Amino acid sequence: MNITWDAEKYTEDFSFVHQYGESVTELIESDVNSTLLDLGCGNGTLSKSLLDKGFRVQGIDASKELLELASVKYPEIPFIQADATDFSLAKPVDVVFSNAVFHWIDADKQASMLRCVHRALKENGEFVFEFGGHGNNQLIHESLARTFEEYGYSYDMPFYFPTIAEYATLLEKAQFKVNYAILFNRPTELEGEDGLRDWIQLFVKTPFSVVDNEDHKAVILDTTVKRLQKTLYKDGKWYADYVRLRMKASRL
Ligand code: BEZ
Repeated sequence: MNITWDAEKYTEDFSFVHQYGESVTELIESDVNSTLLDLGCGNGTLSKSLLDKGFRVQGIDASKELLELASVKYPEIPFIQADATDFSLAKPVDVVFSNAVFHWIDADKQASMLRCVHRALKENGEFVFEFGGHGNNQLIHESLARTFEEYGYSYDMPFYFPTIAEYATLLEKAQFKVNYAILFNRPTELEGEDGLRDWIQLFVKTPFSVVDNEDHKAVILDTTVKRLQKTLYKDGKWYADYVRLRMKASRL
């Protein structure tokens, strides 16, 4: 996963990730008493919501910081620290669920992740997920890339945002049957006057590691935010140009 989380900030300022995730949980068709893995469960908010619906939930996440929050808040749920591209469960489950996680996994690691999910599911088990799809945050990344270039740095895109066709192909290669797929725009309001600046600072960390001059870091951020005002700031509010890829598949 391409990030070290500021767990408190993520939980306080970006709760929309879980609020939107609620609608992804509604896509699950298995009986509510099924066993379920929340893959990339983060601070456990959706794991708890799934538990409350009746699912027998366990959560996996790579972030020790987020899992510490999850375990304190929801001690009734087993949370395990593991990498989504290299995990195995003691017993296969009926459902693997994931929200807003797979874009953090590099393209060349997706197949390993899908192999782990396949192994974690019972035959015909249900795989339901949503993450950033093709075109996600395109205005933000294009603007950052342009500003990086102007200051002599190259912008290394830290996310994987595939098309439906690309991801369906990966799923089929990994022995899943695709049952449902949709790619849709979801402009997302960011809280406060500094909403976009805060979003970039929390989520777009790794590209800034090549910027060795602190003044340049600040100027790149200021310039990018200023430029994006034309397209992403409306009626006193910031909106991020999110595009979601939502899919359902079953394990063959
Ligand atoms: C997303 O949920 O699409 C996302 C969030 C933060 C950074 C990149 C993508």
